[in-house]
Order: sequence, then C-alpha cells, then structure tokens
Amino acid sequence: ELEMPAFTATKVSQYSCQRKTTLNNYNKKFTDAFEVMAENYEFKENEILCLEFLRASSLLKSLPFSVTRMKDIQGLPCVGDQVRDIIEEIIEDGESSRVKEVLNDERYKAFKQFTSVFGVGVKTSERWYRMGLRTVQEVKADKTLKLSKMQKAGFLYYEDLVSCVSKAEADAVTSIVKNTVCTFLPDALVTITGGFRRGKNIGHDIDFLITNPGPREDDELLHKVIDLWKKQGLLLYCDIIESTFVKEQLPSRKVDAMDHFQKCFAILKLYQPRVDNSTCNTSKKLELAEVKDWKAILVDLVITPFEQYAYALLGWTGSRQFGRDLRRYATHERKMMLDNHGLYDRRKRIFLKAGSEEEIFAHLGLDYVAPWERNA
Ligand code: CTP
Ligand code: MN
Ligand code: MN
Ligand code: MN
Repeated sequence: ELEMPAFTATKVSQYSCQRKTTLNNYNKKFTDAFEVMAENYEFKENEILCLEFLRASSLLKSLPFSVTRMKDIQGLPCVGDQVRDIIEEIIEDGESSRVKEVLNDERYKAFKQFTSVFGVGVKTSERWYRMGLRTVQEVKADKTLKLSKMQKAGFLYYEDLVSCVSKAEADAVTSIVKNTVCTFLPDALVTITGGFRRGKNIGHDIDFLITNPGPREDDELLHKVIDLWKKQGLLLYCDIIESTFVKEQLPSRKVDAMDHFQKCFAILKLYQPRVDNSTCNTSKKLELAEVKDWKAILVDLVITPFEQYAYALLGWTGSRQFGRDLRRYATHERKMMLDNHGLYDRRKRIFLKAGSEEEIFAHLGLDYVAPWERNA
C-alpha cells in the first residue's frame, strides 16, 4: 500500500487562515453533507452547531486526499461527535441518514425555498412558515403579504437571480463597472472581489471594491454611477447605504459584523444578445424581438478610502469562513482586532497600517495565503 506523502494530522491548524484551501475539494461528499446540516442549524438559529459544521466542512475541503477510513480523520481539529457520526455513516453507507432526514424535513425544505429569494432571511421565512406557507409559488400567490422593496425585486427577477452568475457574465459586468466609474474618476481602482477573485467560475453575485488612489476623494462617485445607470435603463434595483465609519473606531468584536463602507446592493440589467439574427427571415426576426435579451444580475459595489483598501480587499475576498477565522485568529492568538477597515494591536494600542494583503498577513504573523487558496 502506498503511503500518503508525509501528511501529519496533528499539524493541521484549527484556523482556516493557516491552511490552504483551493477549489479542488477531495471530500465533496462529506462537505456537502455538513453544509446541509449547517444550513439547517442556521434556519433554527443555532449559531454554535451551524459554525461547528461550517468549520468541519472547511477543514475537509483543505485536506489533500479523500477521507475513506475513520483513521484518516484521527487527530484532526474541528471534528466533534456530531461531525464524526456523519462521516462514519457516509463511509459505511455512502450517505447519511441524518442528512437525508434534514433534506426531507418540511421546515428545512420551505426555508430553503424562501431564503432563495433576494431579501428574504431566516426571520421572514419563520413568519411565512408559521402562516402555513411552504413554497415560493404560495408566497407569490398570497396578495395579502407585505413585501419589502428588496423582496419585490427578488420575486420579480427570481428566475434570473437563482440561476448563477457565470465567469463570462462577471467579465461583462466588470467592463461596465470599470467604464462607468472611469467616466467620473479616471484614476479609480476597480477590483472584483468575492468568489470570482478566489478563482470560482460561478457565483450568486458579483462583488466590486472601488477606491481612488489619488489625493482627490469623491463622496458623490457612487451616486453618479447609479444615476447614470438609471438614465441608461440598466438599473433594476438599488439600495445605497451611506458610510457610517468614524475615524479611530475600534474593530468590531462581532464575528459577522457589517462594515461601515459606503456601498450599494444593486440588480443590473445585463444585455446578452442570444442569436446572430442576420441570417434569419423576417418572421423569425419578429419572434426574436419578443425574446428577453437580458439577465438580471446581483452586484455589490463597495467604496473604500485608499488607506483602508487592503483591509477591505481581504475582507471582501472571503471566503466568509476564511474571514471569520482570520478575525478569530487575530483575537485569540495575537491580542489584535481585525475587521474590514483595519487591524488594532491591543497591547501596543495602535492601528497597524497596511498597503497590501501581504502586509496584513505579516502583521498577524501568518504565512501569506493567496486568494485562490482562501476557499475555506
Ligand atoms: N462580506 C462582508 N460584508 C458584507 C457582505 C459580505 O465583509 N456586508 C464579505 C463576505 O464575508 C465574503 C465576501 O464579502 O467573504 C463576499 O461575500 P458574498 O458575495 O456573499 O460571497 P462570495 O464568497 O462572493 O460567494 P457568492 O458566489 O455566493 O457570492
Ligand atoms: Mn459574491
Ligand atoms: Mn453568498
Ligand atoms: Mn456579495
């Protein structure tokens, strides 16, 4: 029997920021199962068990081999009793009865549908479930429900928004965002973040960070961009959130705190010509005119001051679990506080400046982890 090349379980860190996690997942069978369990605990607002399964999922994604025997997970961190039981079931039967139970659970199935609508979270799902509603169609048909502006957009563009964003669509939107921003601020830096920066070729949205390296700041930039898109008929929905950042404020202690940047959660209309109709006959051309030639795409735009750009980039690149572990590592291993705006050293009582992600890892005493290795 061939032995694995020197893999030592006891050397695996409990923090995903000390591991390399590429998109090459050898344990999808297990991690998909854990993610179902985590989601079900999220729906039940059990944060502790939700995080336990998310951490286990992250850990197995980082392993350089497929788990096939219980011996393979010996000595690994992040594997509690519940996680171990599910691994054992999957090794023995190829599937987990607990996971199957969740997948067939009425409440889980309804929440899964409700939360697939843009603007609908656990709280709203809970309310609809208690009213006896079970499917997206039932919610849509109920005209007595009071929907937010966001949820209305969520139902209006439902089909487009649940079908994932492709890399090609992300590239097309990147050009639009760059061109629009540069008409107002030619020197502005526009960077795609989120899953696409980590090398994924699909996503649920497209995330952008915008900063101006020059001396000139423009508080109106985001409004100008949005107004132009409105005029061009490209804006289907938009929620602008103004900056709430206060200078010198300490990083938040919360695990999943919102940052204070000026930002916009938008739905853009992306035109995509489907067929080359130059060879079509007239009746075919008329028919094509009826076909919807655009797709609704979720876009997050975040404006950051240049001094905070590296921290914002690290935070918005994710993954979410990678970010959580960076902050947990900073707090518990370094007596520092990290968020999307900066890093505060509690012993020295100073903010540590950084002009790049590499510098932030260095401040934390961590080996650099490249974006495509942050798919924790
Ligand atoms: N993020 C954040 N603050 C927010 C929203 C998101 O710091 N208010 C971070 C998340 O933690 C995540 C990254 O920004 O690490 C991107 O978020 P999101 O678009 O939700 O996830 P992706 O990793 O891009 O995956 P997806 O394909 O589902 O969009
Ligand atoms: Mn994203
Ligand atoms: Mn997401
Ligand atoms: Mn996003």
